[in-house]
Amino acid sequence: MRWLSIGAVAVGLASFVAAIDPIEVYGNKFFNRDGSQFFMKGIAYQLRPDDPLIDTEQCRLDASLMRELGANTLRVYHVDPEADHDGCMEAFADAGIYLMIDLDTFDTYILPTTLTWNKTMYDRYAEVMDTFHGYDNVLGFFVGNENIATRTDSPAAPFLKAATRDMKAYRDGRGYRSIPIGYTAADIKELRPMLQNFLTCGGNSSESVDFFGLNSYSWCDPSTYESSTYDQLQEYAENFPVPIFFSETGCIVPGPRIWEDQEAIFSEPMVNHWSGAIVYEWIQEQNNYGIISYGPRVDDLSRNDETVFDGWTRKGTPTPKSPDFDNLKTRWATISPTGISKSDHDTNTLSTRACPSSTEGGWWVVNGNVRLPTIGEVMTAPFETVSSVTPTSTADTGDDPAESDDNNNDEDNGALVAKSTLWGLVFAGVVMGACLWI
Ligand SMILES: *[C@@H]1O[C@H](CO)[C@@H](O)[C@H](O)[C@H]1NC(C)=O
Ligand SMILES: *[C@@H]1O[C@H](CO)[C@@H](O)[C@H](O)[C@H]1NC(C)=O
Repeated sequence: MRWLSIGAVAVGLASFVAAIDPIEVYGNKFFNRDGSQFFMKGIAYQLRPDDPLIDTEQCRLDASLMRELGANTLRVYHVDPEADHDGCMEAFADAGIYLMIDLDTFDTYILPTTLTWNKTMYDRYAEVMDTFHGYDNVLGFFVGNENIATRTDSPAAPFLKAATRDMKAYRDGRGYRSIPIGYTAADIKELRPMLQNFLTCGGNSSESVDFFGLNSYSWCDPSTYESSTYDQLQEYAENFPVPIFFSETGCIVPGPRIWEDQEAIFSEPMVNHWSGAIVYEWIQEQNNYGIISYGPRVDDLSRNDETVFDGWTRKGTPTPKSPDFDNLKTRWATISPTGISKSDHDTNTLSTRACPSSTEGGWWVVNGNVRLPTIGEVMTAPFETVSSVTPTSTADTGDDPAESDDNNNDEDNGALVAKSTLWGLVFAGVVMGACLWI
């Protein structure tokens, strides 16, 4: 019953939230309602662990500076579906800003160490969707973020795909707008391109992700298309079946950032295949990725109130961090890709991806045609494969999954390792009830 009342409220508020046209996916691109292509210039935004979208005044202050920065998208990792988000969603809509929201919470995250996609998790994801589907500036939902990041993690992939299948069915069953649902991956060279291919293979769009986001920190200014290995990311992204974009980017080593990666992403050849980038992150905190600050570091680490948490002020007037903020603003101001119009977008040019096979002794141990788990089903790797499902294509990505002799230095990249570790700490902290936040 609950979804009925929540649904009614959401439909009601859609009528008074500021007019902003919803974005749709067609082929492998995002499109505005007028048929022009939409590219993300995004920022990761999580002022607080539980939900940054409940303090309207704060959202207004931030939205105003984000507009000045030239951002049109936010990425939010955790929200509280019970809270009231009208004020913040309207503040961002007024500033022309869309949101990508993770459906999982700290305790419903799909863990490679506990292979399950069960009713508790499903209900929680559904609750977030119920709460947010009515806002026209919701750009997409994530079923997971970096769930697969180490050598032993790939068995979680069928569970991520099962979550995608079930949330798409839930969305369509409720009659919600076709808000795209996808996954955001850690950029691990040993998992390329198997993970992105697995999530889009099999020829059944009811089970495939609607988009694929890549968290990549491999471009550290100064760099180049080749030495950043963007050329390899590009190779795997060419004519990808669904929109693909950078769901986190912005290496801080050695810093300051001059954002030349944005230049690469928004120019040929990448701009023809990628849908933009989300920069990590808005608030300056312990990890040092922020582009704004709300005040100086606070010495008292135990302080946890409305304003301060974990030694950082998280409320008030945002002050640009120099020179990263201005560098990004200047960079984005020079970038305005036109892309392609929806009517000119020929979806026949898209590739289809073969389901990857497992690589012996490698990072990818899931045979592509595994039967996806049902809700609550206990499955242990290696999974049975479904012989009746055949990949629809030929997947000519020109790549040998076993080959990993590229020169990507993710694992050596302090930025990526540091941040992954931080996220690991977040989850570990929550599991331990320590309420730890980066
Ligand atoms: C689902 O899995 C989570 C994590 O293992 C667990 O806490 C929860 O109780 C499970 N729910 C059901 C219905 O089994
Ligand atoms: C596609 O996937 C959906 C969801 O799993 C399933 O119900 C449907 O039967 C599948 N279609 C085909 C043609 O296999």
